[in-house]
Amino acid sequence: MPAPTLPTLKLALTAPKGCGFIVLGLHGSDASPELVGVPAELDKSFAKKFGSSILDLVVSIGAQPAAGQCRMVPSLDGARLIIVGLGEGDPTPEGLRRAAGAGVREAAALAGTENAQVAISLGADEPETVRAIAEGALLGSYTYSPITSGEVPAPKIHSVTVLSTAAGQKGLVADGIQTARIVAQAVVTAREWINIPPNLLYPQTFAEEARQLVRDSRIAVEVLDDQALAKGGYGGLMAVGGGSSRLPRLVRFSYAPRGARFHLVLIGKGITFDSGGLNLKPGEGMYTMKCDMSGAAAVLAATKAIADLGLKIKVTCYASMAENLPSATSYRPSDVLTMYGGKTVENANCDAEGRLVMADALARAAEDNPDLVVDVATLTGACQVALGDRIGGVMATDDETAAQLLAAAEACGEEFWQLPIPDDYRGKLDSKVADVRSAGAGRAGGAMIAAAFLREFVNEPTPWAHLDIAGPAFHTDAPYGYVNHGGTGVGVRTLVSLASSLQG
Ligand code: BES
Ligand code: MN
Ligand code: ZN
Repeated sequence: MPAPTLPTLKLALTAPKGCGFIVLGLHGSDASPELVGVPAELDKSFAKKFGSSILDLVVSIGAQPAAGQCRMVPSLDGARLIIVGLGEGDPTPEGLRRAAGAGVREAAALAGTENAQVAISLGADEPETVRAIAEGALLGSYTYSPITSGEVPAPKIHSVTVLSTAAGQKGLVADGIQTARIVAQAVVTAREWINIPPNLLYPQTFAEEARQLVRDSRIAVEVLDDQALAKGGYGGLMAVGGGSSRLPRLVRFSYAPRGARFHLVLIGKGITFDSGGLNLKPGEGMYTMKCDMSGAAAVLAATKAIADLGLKIKVTCYASMAENLPSATSYRPSDVLTMYGGKTVENANCDAEGRLVMADALARAAEDNPDLVVDVATLTGACQVALGDRIGGVMATDDETAAQLLAAAEACGEEFWQLPIPDDYRGKLDSKVADVRSAGAGRAGGAMIAAAFLREFVNEPTPWAHLDIAGPAFHTDAPYGYVNHGGTGVGVRTLVSLASSLQG
Protein backbone atom coordinates (compact mmCIF):
# COMPACT_ATOMS: atom_id res chain seq x y z
CA MET A 1 0.00 0.00 0.00
CA PRO A 2 1.54 3.33 -1.00
CA ALA A 3 2.63 5.69 1.79
CA PRO A 4 0.60 8.89 2.04
CA THR A 5 2.31 11.89 0.45
CA LEU A 6 2.30 15.28 2.06
CA PRO A 7 2.40 18.62 0.24
CA THR A 8 5.87 20.07 -0.25
CA LEU A 9 6.78 22.44 2.54
CA LYS A 10 8.71 25.69 2.20
CA LEU A 11 9.64 28.71 4.24
CA ALA A 12 9.57 32.09 2.47
CA LEU A 13 9.28 35.83 2.99
CA THR A 14 6.43 36.25 0.50
CA ALA A 15 3.78 34.11 -1.11
CA PRO A 16 5.07 32.20 -4.14
CA LYS A 17 3.94 33.02 -7.66
CA GLY A 18 0.75 31.22 -8.63
CA CYS A 19 -0.25 30.81 -5.01
CA GLY A 20 -3.98 30.02 -4.86
CA PHE A 21 -4.63 30.77 -1.20
CA ILE A 22 -3.16 32.97 1.48
CA VAL A 23 -4.12 32.18 5.07
CA LEU A 24 -4.00 35.12 7.49
CA GLY A 25 -4.76 35.13 11.21
CA LEU A 26 -7.23 37.35 13.03
CA HIS A 27 -6.32 37.85 16.62
CA GLY A 28 -7.74 39.83 19.56
CA SER A 29 -11.24 40.68 20.68
CA ASP A 30 -14.21 41.92 18.64
CA ALA A 31 -13.53 45.42 19.96
CA SER A 32 -9.88 45.46 18.96
CA PRO A 33 -9.24 42.92 16.22
CA GLU A 34 -5.82 42.65 14.70
CA LEU A 35 -4.65 40.80 11.59
CA VAL A 36 -1.31 39.13 12.06
CA GLY A 37 1.30 38.41 9.44
CA VAL A 38 -0.18 40.56 6.67
CA PRO A 39 2.61 41.22 4.20
CA ALA A 40 2.75 45.01 3.60
CA GLU A 41 2.66 44.80 -0.20
CA LEU A 42 -0.37 42.50 0.00
CA ASP A 43 -2.29 45.02 2.09
CA LYS A 44 -1.25 47.77 -0.34
CA SER A 45 -2.51 46.02 -3.45
CA PHE A 46 -5.66 45.02 -1.59
CA ALA A 47 -6.31 48.68 -0.68
CA LYS A 48 -5.75 49.68 -4.29
CA LYS A 49 -8.34 47.23 -5.53
CA PHE A 50 -10.96 47.49 -2.77
CA GLY A 51 -10.30 50.90 -1.25
CA SER A 52 -9.81 49.48 2.22
CA SER A 53 -7.23 47.59 4.23
CA ILE A 54 -7.89 43.86 4.62
CA LEU A 55 -8.68 44.33 8.31
CA ASP A 56 -11.11 47.21 7.73
CA LEU A 57 -12.94 45.19 5.11
CA VAL A 58 -13.13 42.11 7.36
CA VAL A 59 -14.58 44.23 10.15
CA SER A 60 -16.98 46.19 7.95
CA ILE A 61 -18.56 43.07 6.48
CA GLY A 62 -18.60 41.39 9.89
CA ALA A 63 -16.37 38.56 8.70
CA GLN A 64 -14.38 38.09 11.90
CA PRO A 65 -13.95 34.33 12.39
CA ALA A 66 -14.21 32.74 15.83
CA ALA A 67 -11.11 30.90 17.08
CA GLY A 68 -10.39 27.93 14.84
CA GLN A 69 -12.97 29.02 12.23
CA CYS A 70 -12.29 30.41 8.76
CA ARG A 71 -13.82 33.20 6.67
CA MET A 72 -13.08 34.21 3.09
CA VAL A 73 -12.53 37.75 1.89
CA PRO A 74 -12.59 38.89 -1.76
CA SER A 75 -9.75 37.55 -3.82
CA LEU A 76 -6.72 39.39 -4.97
CA ASP A 77 -4.72 38.70 -8.11
CA GLY A 78 -5.93 35.13 -8.17
CA ALA A 79 -4.95 34.40 -4.57
CA ARG A 80 -7.95 33.87 -2.35
CA LEU A 81 -7.61 35.15 1.19
CA ILE A 82 -8.66 32.92 4.08
CA ILE A 83 -8.88 34.55 7.50
CA VAL A 84 -8.54 32.11 10.38
CA GLY A 85 -9.54 33.03 13.93
CA LEU A 86 -6.73 32.89 16.52
CA GLY A 87 -8.90 33.91 19.47
CA GLU A 88 -7.99 36.43 22.13
CA GLY A 89 -4.60 36.60 23.80
CA ASP A 90 -1.30 35.43 22.39
CA PRO A 91 -1.81 32.22 20.46
CA THR A 92 -0.05 29.16 21.86
CA PRO A 93 1.92 26.89 19.52
CA GLU A 94 -1.03 24.49 19.62
CA GLY A 95 -3.39 27.37 18.79
CA LEU A 96 -1.24 28.15 15.75
CA ARG A 97 -1.06 24.47 14.81
CA ARG A 98 -4.84 24.24 14.84
CA ALA A 99 -5.29 27.55 12.99
CA ALA A 100 -2.89 26.46 10.25
CA GLY A 101 -4.69 23.13 9.98
CA ALA A 102 -8.09 24.83 9.75
CA GLY A 103 -6.78 27.23 7.08
CA VAL A 104 -5.41 24.41 4.96
CA ARG A 105 -8.61 22.38 5.31
CA GLU A 106 -10.58 25.41 4.16
CA ALA A 107 -8.26 25.83 1.17
CA ALA A 108 -8.63 22.14 0.31
CA ALA A 109 -12.42 22.42 0.50
CA LEU A 110 -12.37 25.41 -1.88
CA ALA A 111 -9.63 24.11 -4.15
CA GLY A 112 -11.68 21.53 -6.02
CA THR A 113 -9.17 19.58 -8.04
CA GLU A 114 -6.77 22.40 -8.66
CA ASN A 115 -3.67 21.06 -6.89
CA ALA A 116 -3.36 24.33 -5.02
CA GLN A 117 -0.46 26.17 -3.46
CA VAL A 118 -1.21 27.61 -0.04
CA ALA A 119 0.75 30.29 1.80
CA ILE A 120 0.26 30.66 5.54
CA SER A 121 1.10 33.91 7.23
CA LEU A 122 0.42 33.85 10.96
CA GLY A 123 3.21 36.13 12.12
CA ALA A 124 5.58 33.33 13.11
CA ASP A 125 9.28 34.07 13.40
CA GLU A 126 10.43 31.73 16.16
CA PRO A 127 11.51 28.12 15.54
CA GLU A 128 8.77 26.79 17.82
CA THR A 129 5.93 28.73 16.20
CA VAL A 130 7.13 28.14 12.64
CA ARG A 131 7.35 24.44 13.41
CA ALA A 132 3.85 24.40 14.91
CA ILE A 133 2.34 26.16 11.89
CA ALA A 134 4.11 23.85 9.46
CA GLU A 135 2.96 20.78 11.39
CA GLY A 136 -0.63 21.98 11.57
CA ALA A 137 -0.70 22.81 7.87
CA LEU A 138 0.68 19.44 6.79
CA LEU A 139 -1.61 17.51 9.14
CA GLY A 140 -4.65 19.53 8.06
CA SER A 141 -3.99 18.59 4.44
CA TYR A 142 -4.27 14.84 5.10
CA THR A 143 -7.38 12.90 4.19
CA TYR A 144 -7.76 9.21 3.42
CA SER A 145 -8.19 8.62 -0.31
CA PRO A 146 -11.23 6.52 -1.13
CA ILE A 147 -10.66 3.15 -2.77
CA THR A 148 -12.52 3.57 -6.02
CA SER A 149 -12.96 2.06 -9.47
CA GLY A 150 -12.53 5.55 -10.90
CA GLU A 151 -9.42 7.64 -11.13
CA VAL A 152 -7.46 8.28 -7.95
CA PRO A 153 -8.15 11.93 -7.11
CA ALA A 154 -5.07 14.19 -7.18
CA PRO A 155 -4.08 15.71 -3.84
CA LYS A 156 -5.86 19.03 -3.46
CA ILE A 157 -2.97 20.83 -1.82
CA HIS A 158 0.28 20.67 -3.73
CA SER A 159 2.47 22.88 -1.59
CA VAL A 160 2.45 24.76 1.68
CA THR A 161 4.61 27.84 2.19
CA VAL A 162 5.01 29.20 5.70
CA LEU A 163 5.63 32.94 5.49
CA SER A 164 8.09 34.21 8.05
CA THR A 165 10.47 37.12 8.42
CA ALA A 166 13.02 34.51 9.50
CA ALA A 167 12.96 32.83 6.08
CA GLY A 168 16.34 32.73 4.40
CA GLN A 169 18.19 32.50 7.70
CA LYS A 170 19.83 29.18 8.25
CA GLY A 171 19.58 27.57 11.66
CA LEU A 172 16.80 26.94 14.09
CA VAL A 173 13.84 28.15 12.06
CA ALA A 174 14.88 26.07 9.06
CA ASP A 175 15.44 23.12 11.42
CA GLY A 176 11.92 23.65 12.76
CA ILE A 177 10.54 23.17 9.25
CA GLN A 178 12.56 19.98 8.82
CA THR A 179 11.35 18.65 12.18
CA ALA A 180 7.74 19.49 11.29
CA ARG A 181 8.04 17.55 8.05
CA ILE A 182 9.39 14.44 9.78
CA VAL A 183 6.85 14.53 12.60
CA ALA A 184 3.90 15.21 10.26
CA GLN A 185 5.01 12.38 7.99
CA ALA A 186 4.97 10.04 10.99
CA VAL A 187 1.52 11.21 12.10
CA VAL A 188 -0.01 10.72 8.64
CA THR A 189 1.68 7.32 8.34
CA ALA A 190 -0.14 6.30 11.53
CA ARG A 191 -3.40 7.86 10.29
CA GLU A 192 -3.19 6.07 6.97
CA TRP A 193 -2.67 2.65 8.58
CA ILE A 194 -5.60 3.31 10.91
CA ASN A 195 -7.83 4.30 8.00
CA ILE A 196 -7.01 1.33 5.74
CA PRO A 197 -10.00 -1.02 6.00
CA PRO A 198 -9.46 -4.15 8.08
CA ASN A 199 -9.93 -6.56 5.17
CA LEU A 200 -6.76 -5.04 3.71
CA LEU A 201 -4.76 -4.27 6.85
CA TYR A 202 -4.49 -7.38 9.02
CA PRO A 203 -1.57 -8.71 11.06
CA GLN A 204 0.43 -10.06 8.14
CA THR A 205 -0.03 -7.02 5.90
CA PHE A 206 0.40 -4.58 8.80
CA ALA A 207 3.70 -6.27 9.70
CA GLU A 208 4.74 -6.01 6.05
CA GLU A 209 3.86 -2.28 6.08
CA ALA A 210 6.00 -1.83 9.19
CA ARG A 211 8.88 -3.62 7.50
CA GLN A 212 8.57 -1.41 4.42
CA LEU A 213 8.46 1.75 6.52
CA VAL A 214 11.94 1.20 7.88
CA ARG A 215 13.60 -0.46 4.91
CA ASP A 216 16.03 2.42 4.20
CA SER A 217 16.44 3.62 7.76
CA ARG A 218 18.66 3.01 10.75
CA ILE A 219 15.96 0.84 12.34
CA ALA A 220 16.37 -2.95 12.45
CA VAL A 221 13.15 -4.93 12.18
CA GLU A 222 12.19 -8.42 13.27
CA VAL A 223 8.78 -10.02 12.73
CA LEU A 224 7.60 -13.01 14.72
CA ASP A 225 4.90 -14.91 12.80
CA ASP A 226 2.29 -17.22 14.37
CA GLN A 227 4.65 -20.19 14.39
CA ALA A 228 7.39 -18.23 16.12
CA LEU A 229 4.83 -16.82 18.58
CA ALA A 230 3.48 -20.29 19.42
CA LYS A 231 7.01 -21.60 19.89
CA GLY A 232 8.00 -18.58 21.98
CA GLY A 233 5.07 -19.00 24.36
CA TYR A 234 3.18 -15.82 23.49
CA GLY A 235 -0.10 -17.14 24.92
CA GLY A 236 -1.95 -13.81 24.83
CA LEU A 237 -1.27 -13.08 21.17
CA MET A 238 -1.99 -16.67 20.16
CA ALA A 239 -5.29 -16.81 22.06
CA VAL A 240 -6.62 -13.48 20.83
CA GLY A 241 -5.36 -13.93 17.28
CA GLY A 242 -6.41 -17.56 16.99
CA GLY A 243 -10.03 -16.82 16.13
CA SER A 244 -9.08 -15.30 12.80
CA SER A 245 -7.70 -16.98 9.69
CA ARG A 246 -5.35 -13.96 9.63
CA LEU A 247 -2.90 -15.07 12.32
CA PRO A 248 -1.02 -12.80 14.75
CA ARG A 249 2.36 -11.12 14.42
CA LEU A 250 4.75 -9.39 16.77
CA VAL A 251 6.87 -6.68 15.15
CA ARG A 252 10.00 -5.46 16.88
CA PHE A 253 11.88 -2.32 15.82
CA SER A 254 15.25 -1.52 17.25
CA TYR A 255 17.01 1.82 16.91
CA ALA A 256 20.33 2.03 18.72
CA PRO A 257 22.32 5.11 17.73
CA ARG A 258 25.92 5.50 18.87
CA GLY A 259 26.30 7.31 22.16
CA ALA A 260 22.73 6.78 23.35
CA ARG A 261 22.49 6.69 27.14
CA PHE A 262 18.79 6.02 27.64
CA HIS A 263 16.79 2.99 26.54
CA LEU A 264 13.12 3.66 25.84
CA VAL A 265 10.80 0.75 25.08
CA LEU A 266 7.53 1.44 23.28
CA ILE A 267 4.66 -1.04 23.00
CA GLY A 268 1.52 -0.63 20.90
CA LYS A 269 -1.82 -2.44 20.71
CA GLY A 270 -2.33 -3.66 17.15
CA ILE A 271 -5.78 -5.25 17.01
CA THR A 272 -6.49 -4.82 13.30
CA PHE A 273 -10.19 -5.39 13.94
CA ASP A 274 -11.93 -5.85 17.29
CA SER A 275 -15.28 -7.60 16.88
CA GLY A 276 -15.23 -8.49 20.58
CA GLY A 277 -14.64 -12.15 19.73
CA LEU A 278 -17.12 -14.56 21.35
CA ASN A 279 -18.20 -11.61 23.54
CA LEU A 280 -19.35 -10.04 20.28
CA LYS A 281 -19.79 -6.28 20.26
CA PRO A 282 -23.09 -4.77 19.14
CA GLY A 283 -23.03 -3.35 15.60
CA GLU A 284 -22.61 0.35 16.43
CA GLY A 285 -19.70 -0.32 18.77
CA MET A 286 -17.99 -2.57 16.24
CA TYR A 287 -18.12 -0.28 13.22
CA THR A 288 -15.07 1.86 14.07
CA MET A 289 -13.00 -0.99 15.47
CA LYS A 290 -10.54 -0.95 12.59
CA CYS A 291 -9.01 1.80 14.73
CA ASP A 292 -8.02 -0.72 17.40
CA MET A 293 -4.48 -0.87 16.04
CA SER A 294 -3.92 2.87 16.61
CA GLY A 295 -1.46 2.27 19.46
CA ALA A 296 0.72 0.03 17.29
CA ALA A 297 0.53 2.56 14.45
CA ALA A 298 1.62 5.31 16.86
CA VAL A 299 4.63 3.51 18.34
CA LEU A 300 5.91 2.29 14.95
CA ALA A 301 5.54 5.69 13.28
CA ALA A 302 7.02 7.51 16.27
CA THR A 303 10.07 5.24 16.27
CA LYS A 304 10.57 6.05 12.59
CA ALA A 305 10.39 9.79 13.32
CA ILE A 306 12.82 9.44 16.25
CA ALA A 307 15.32 7.72 13.93
CA ASP A 308 14.74 10.21 11.09
CA LEU A 309 15.38 13.06 13.52
CA GLY A 310 18.56 11.30 14.59
CA LEU A 311 17.68 11.57 18.28
CA LYS A 312 20.39 10.14 20.51
CA ILE A 313 18.27 7.63 22.39
CA LYS A 314 17.96 3.87 22.10
CA VAL A 315 14.40 2.85 21.22
CA THR A 316 12.98 -0.65 21.07
CA CYS A 317 9.43 -0.81 19.81
CA TYR A 318 6.92 -3.68 19.87
CA ALA A 319 3.68 -3.82 17.92
CA SER A 320 1.37 -6.66 19.00
CA MET A 321 -0.82 -7.48 16.02
CA ALA A 322 -3.89 -9.73 16.04
CA GLU A 323 -7.45 -9.79 14.75
CA ASN A 324 -10.16 -10.49 17.36
CA LEU A 325 -12.90 -12.58 15.69
CA PRO A 326 -15.39 -15.25 16.80
CA SER A 327 -14.95 -18.63 15.16
CA ALA A 328 -14.47 -22.32 15.89
CA THR A 329 -10.87 -21.58 16.81
CA SER A 330 -11.59 -18.64 19.10
CA TYR A 331 -10.47 -18.46 22.66
CA ARG A 332 -13.30 -18.51 25.19
CA PRO A 333 -14.41 -16.71 28.32
CA SER A 334 -12.98 -18.77 31.25
CA ASP A 335 -10.00 -20.08 29.24
CA VAL A 336 -6.76 -20.01 31.21
CA LEU A 337 -3.85 -18.72 29.13
CA THR A 338 -0.15 -19.02 29.79
CA MET A 339 1.42 -15.73 28.82
CA TYR A 340 4.97 -14.99 27.65
CA GLY A 341 7.17 -15.50 30.70
CA GLY A 342 4.82 -18.06 32.29
CA LYS A 343 2.23 -16.08 34.23
CA THR A 344 -1.30 -17.48 33.84
CA VAL A 345 -4.42 -15.46 33.06
CA GLU A 346 -8.09 -16.38 33.36
CA ASN A 347 -9.85 -14.80 30.39
CA ALA A 348 -12.83 -12.91 31.77
CA ASN A 349 -14.12 -11.54 28.48
CA CYS A 350 -12.96 -12.00 24.89
CA ASP A 351 -13.59 -8.28 24.29
CA ALA A 352 -10.85 -7.46 26.82
CA GLU A 353 -8.37 -8.71 24.21
CA GLY A 354 -6.05 -5.71 24.09
CA ARG A 355 -4.56 -6.22 27.53
CA LEU A 356 -3.70 -9.84 26.62
CA VAL A 357 -1.66 -8.95 23.55
CA MET A 358 -0.07 -6.07 25.47
CA ALA A 359 0.84 -8.33 28.41
CA ASP A 360 2.90 -10.63 26.18
CA ALA A 361 4.81 -7.66 24.78
CA LEU A 362 5.33 -6.09 28.22
CA ALA A 363 6.75 -9.37 29.54
CA ARG A 364 8.98 -9.73 26.50
CA ALA A 365 10.16 -6.12 26.74
CA ALA A 366 11.31 -6.68 30.34
CA GLU A 367 14.16 -8.76 28.86
CA ASP A 368 15.47 -5.73 26.96
CA ASN A 369 16.59 -3.99 30.13
CA PRO A 370 14.75 -0.70 29.48
CA ASP A 371 15.04 2.54 31.46
CA LEU A 372 11.40 3.36 30.74
CA VAL A 373 8.52 1.46 29.15
CA VAL A 374 5.62 3.32 27.53
CA ASP A 375 2.65 1.54 26.02
CA VAL A 376 -0.06 3.02 23.82
CA ALA A 377 -3.43 1.32 23.36
CA THR A 378 -7.06 1.91 22.46
CA LEU A 379 -7.65 -0.14 25.56
CA THR A 380 -10.96 0.71 27.20
CA GLY A 381 -14.31 2.25 26.39
CA ALA A 382 -14.22 3.32 30.04
CA CYS A 383 -11.36 5.74 29.32
CA GLN A 384 -13.39 7.28 26.49
CA VAL A 385 -16.35 7.64 28.84
CA ALA A 386 -14.13 9.24 31.50
CA LEU A 387 -12.15 11.71 29.36
CA GLY A 388 -14.13 12.06 26.14
CA ASP A 389 -13.01 12.04 22.53
CA ARG A 390 -10.15 14.47 22.67
CA ILE A 391 -8.17 13.54 25.78
CA GLY A 392 -6.20 10.39 26.40
CA GLY A 393 -5.50 8.78 29.79
CA VAL A 394 -2.07 8.37 31.37
CA MET A 395 -1.53 5.73 34.05
CA ALA A 396 1.90 4.97 35.45
CA THR A 397 3.92 3.10 38.04
CA ASP A 398 4.66 6.44 39.76
CA ASP A 399 3.65 10.10 39.55
CA GLU A 400 7.06 11.27 38.28
CA THR A 401 6.74 9.02 35.25
CA ALA A 402 3.18 10.20 34.63
CA ALA A 403 4.40 13.82 34.93
CA GLN A 404 7.11 13.12 32.33
CA LEU A 405 4.48 11.92 29.88
CA LEU A 406 2.16 14.83 30.64
CA ALA A 407 5.01 17.30 30.07
CA ALA A 408 5.92 15.64 26.77
CA ALA A 409 2.28 15.83 25.66
CA GLU A 410 1.94 19.44 26.74
CA ALA A 411 5.07 20.41 24.80
CA CYS A 412 3.70 19.03 21.52
CA GLY A 413 0.05 20.03 21.89
CA GLU A 414 -1.51 16.61 22.57
CA GLU A 415 -3.92 16.27 25.48
CA PHE A 416 -3.61 13.64 28.19
CA TRP A 417 -4.85 13.47 31.76
CA GLN A 418 -3.60 11.27 34.56
CA LEU A 419 -5.74 8.57 36.14
CA PRO A 420 -4.56 6.60 39.19
CA ILE A 421 -3.92 2.86 39.43
CA PRO A 422 -5.21 2.30 42.98
CA ASP A 423 -3.59 -0.72 44.65
CA ASP A 424 -7.02 -1.67 45.96
CA TYR A 425 -8.33 -2.22 42.46
CA ARG A 426 -5.93 -5.11 41.91
CA GLY A 427 -8.23 -7.19 44.12
CA LYS A 428 -10.88 -7.10 41.42
CA LEU A 429 -8.53 -9.20 39.30
CA ASP A 430 -8.12 -12.08 41.76
CA SER A 431 -8.81 -15.43 40.10
CA LYS A 432 -9.71 -18.82 41.52
CA VAL A 433 -8.14 -20.65 38.59
CA ALA A 434 -5.12 -18.59 37.48
CA ASP A 435 -2.53 -16.07 38.68
CA VAL A 436 -4.75 -13.19 37.58
CA ARG A 437 -8.09 -12.53 35.89
CA SER A 438 -8.13 -10.33 32.79
CA ALA A 439 -10.98 -8.06 33.90
CA GLY A 440 -13.15 -7.18 36.86
CA ALA A 441 -16.84 -7.94 37.22
CA GLY A 442 -18.49 -4.55 36.60
CA ARG A 443 -17.86 -1.61 34.32
CA ALA A 444 -16.78 0.85 37.01
CA GLY A 445 -13.21 2.12 36.76
CA GLY A 446 -12.47 0.03 33.68
CA ALA A 447 -9.52 2.11 32.46
CA MET A 448 -7.71 1.85 35.80
CA ILE A 449 -8.46 -1.84 36.28
CA ALA A 450 -7.07 -2.53 32.82
CA ALA A 451 -3.92 -0.62 33.84
CA ALA A 452 -3.73 -2.66 37.06
CA PHE A 453 -3.79 -5.80 34.89
CA LEU A 454 -1.00 -4.52 32.63
CA ARG A 455 1.11 -3.57 35.67
CA GLU A 456 1.26 -7.28 36.56
CA PHE A 457 3.50 -7.76 33.51
CA VAL A 458 5.85 -4.85 34.16
CA ASN A 459 9.21 -5.76 35.62
CA GLU A 460 9.51 -3.80 38.86
CA PRO A 461 11.23 -1.36 39.46
CA THR A 462 11.30 -0.32 35.78
CA PRO A 463 9.17 2.81 35.38
CA TRP A 464 6.22 2.32 33.06
CA ALA A 465 3.50 4.54 31.65
CA HIS A 466 0.34 3.45 29.87
CA LEU A 467 -1.47 5.75 27.42
CA ASP A 468 -5.12 4.79 26.84
CA ILE A 469 -6.13 6.49 23.57
CA ALA A 470 -9.56 4.85 23.11
CA GLY A 471 -11.14 8.34 23.09
CA PRO A 472 -8.93 10.42 20.78
CA ALA A 473 -7.60 7.73 18.38
CA PHE A 474 -10.40 7.94 15.82
CA HIS A 475 -12.34 11.06 14.92
CA THR A 476 -15.94 10.69 13.77
CA ASP A 477 -17.32 14.22 14.40
CA ALA A 478 -16.90 17.26 12.17
CA PRO A 479 -13.26 18.01 11.29
CA TYR A 480 -11.54 20.64 13.47
CA GLY A 481 -8.08 22.21 13.55
CA TYR A 482 -5.68 19.78 11.87
CA VAL A 483 -7.91 16.74 12.50
CA ASN A 484 -9.97 15.30 9.68
CA HIS A 485 -12.33 12.33 9.78
CA GLY A 486 -10.71 9.03 10.74
CA GLY A 487 -7.49 8.05 12.47
CA THR A 488 -5.83 10.96 14.27
CA GLY A 489 -2.35 9.56 14.87
CA VAL A 490 -2.59 10.67 18.51
CA GLY A 491 0.38 9.54 20.56
CA VAL A 492 2.98 9.93 17.81
CA ARG A 493 3.83 13.50 18.75
CA THR A 494 3.89 12.80 22.48
CA LEU A 495 6.30 9.89 22.00
CA VAL A 496 8.62 11.93 19.77
CA SER A 497 8.47 14.77 22.28
CA LEU A 498 9.24 12.36 25.13
CA ALA A 499 12.18 10.86 23.25
CA SER A 500 13.64 14.28 22.54
CA SER A 501 13.36 15.19 26.23
CA LEU A 502 15.18 11.98 27.23
CA GLN A 503 17.89 11.92 24.56
CA GLY A 504 21.54 12.81 24.98
N1 BES B 1 -10.98 -1.82 21.71
C1 BES B 1 -11.84 -1.77 22.83
C2 BES B 1 -11.85 -0.40 23.52
C3 BES B 1 -12.35 0.76 22.72
C4 BES B 1 -13.63 1.23 22.88
C5 BES B 1 -11.51 1.46 21.86
C6 BES B 1 -14.08 2.33 22.19
C7 BES B 1 -11.95 2.56 21.16
C8 BES B 1 -13.25 3.00 21.33
C9 BES B 1 -11.41 -2.81 23.86
O1 BES B 1 -10.83 -3.96 23.35
C10 BES B 1 -12.63 -3.26 24.59
O2 BES B 1 -13.49 -3.76 23.95
N2 BES B 1 -12.63 -3.06 25.91
C11 BES B 1 -13.74 -3.47 26.72
C12 BES B 1 -13.17 -4.07 28.00
C13 BES B 1 -14.19 -4.79 28.84
C14 BES B 1 -14.73 -5.99 28.12
C15 BES B 1 -13.54 -5.20 30.15
C16 BES B 1 -14.59 -2.25 27.02
O3 BES B 1 -14.03 -1.15 27.16
O4 BES B 1 -15.79 -2.38 27.06
MN1 MN C 1 -12.26 -5.41 22.77
ZN1 ZN D 1 -9.85 -3.72 21.53
